[in-house]
Amino acid sequence: MAEKEQDILNKFKTNQEEEAAVDTTRKMRVGIIGTGWIAEAHIESYKRMPDVEIVAGADLIPGKAEAFFKRYGVEGVRCYPSHKEMLDNEQLDAVSVCTYNRQHVPCAKYALEKGVHVLLEKPMCVTLEEAIDLCRTEKASGKVLSIGFQPRFDANMKMIKKIVESGELGQIYYIQTGGGRRRGIPTPFGTTFIEENTAGLGALADIGCYSLDMVLNAIGYPKPLTVTGYKSDFFGKMPSYYPNHPEYADLFGVDDFAAAFVRLEGGIILDFRIAWAMNMDTPGDTIILGTKGGLRIPSTECWNGSVGGPMKIYHEVAGAQVETEIPIIPDDSNLFDKKIRTFLDAAKNGTPAPVPTSQILYNQAILSGIADSARVGHEIQIEIPEI
Ligand SMILES: NC(=O)c1ccc[n+]([C@@H]2O[C@H](COP(=O)([O-])OP(=O)(O)OC[C@H]3O[C@@H](n4cnc5c(N)ncnc54)[C@H](O)[C@@H]3O)[C@@H](O)[C@H]2O)c1
Repeated sequence: MAEKEQDILNKFKTNQEEEAAVDTTRKMRVGIIGTGWIAEAHIESYKRMPDVEIVAGADLIPGKAEAFFKRYGVEGVRCYPSHKEMLDNEQLDAVSVCTYNRQHVPCAKYALEKGVHVLLEKPMCVTLEEAIDLCRTEKASGKVLSIGFQPRFDANMKMIKKIVESGELGQIYYIQTGGGRRRGIPTPFGTTFIEENTAGLGALADIGCYSLDMVLNAIGYPKPLTVTGYKSDFFGKMPSYYPNHPEYADLFGVDDFAAAFVRLEGGIILDFRIAWAMNMDTPGDTIILGTKGGLRIPSTECWNGSVGGPMKIYHEVAGAQVETEIPIIPDDSNLFDKKIRTFLDAAKNGTPAPVPTSQILYNQAILSGIADSARVGHEIQIEIPEI
């Protein structure tokens, strides 16, 4: 490797992360709201935390919470038919909100109002109005509200931010991002992801929120100003898409593809596309263009925090057009454990949320702006009031 190239790579060298000792004398009494698929990852991580007692759980479906805790061998957990009964009857320190999107805000708000710290699954919610309401409740409560973007804790995802912050790309002016699957409408566990009254938004919010977070977090979450959005549902509405459940086509009430052109503060353009289903393998790599360099992030399953291959910086060194490959950083740490641990630490120590709503409010404003613009068929202004 050329010396200059090594110099560039040295700029991004990661320092080994030190894990702080956990204070086990202060136990956290935790509850889980919604005991579906993602709650499994939460309970597995909570069980590994030496300072957590899982004391309560809730699910709207009768018997589901009871069966869930039994399956995970957690005894003595009191189960309730909804978040309200649980929060009215329990003294909790923290809850995970693992409900479908439309129930994120009612559950998170109620918990914050009861003085309970909240780890809320992604996407934050469905509409910008809900997001603003939730952020105001969080502020009034003084409690920690963190949003469940575990890819943020991946070493390669962190590297993207380090590269931008190193100044190696210069001034960023254009980003193309997104991702998708050829066939991947998430119905293996039922229809809560595809029905309007449970999910609210489809691929746009479900996986789109991750690719937005990957690039916006890297560049410091500038405020979104305007958006032109498009969304469609051609695959979701096709009975032949679901050979075993053609009736799902009638239930499909969200998007399976979305695209947008977003203007961000600082003169940055964000070009975005996301798909649960399309006649293509990928909608393209993520690229970040700057005045000094460009970064290519090979098409990635951003929803699980992986890059699709070594990233490359395209830049000019001593007048020559040079490409610097950033080797993949092996990272087999458990991202869910990191998401839960950082949340618990913030709640215990009164420190800021690891994935703060001040940032994710902008993520939500874009998602909701894309849906609004798609509905009216033209560009719209994104108005975000002071929280
Ligand atoms: N971070 C990740 O990697 C990741 C992965 C998958 C899903 N998710 C997110 O997690 C959320 C849930 O996804 P899922 O696949 O577990 O959905 P799911 O439909 O399998 O489970 C949701 C459960 O919440 C229950 N519920 C809804 N409202 C409730 C309420 N008010 N009180 C009590 N229970 C309630 C439902 O009855 C259901 O059992 C979604 O928002 C999704 O986007 C995150």
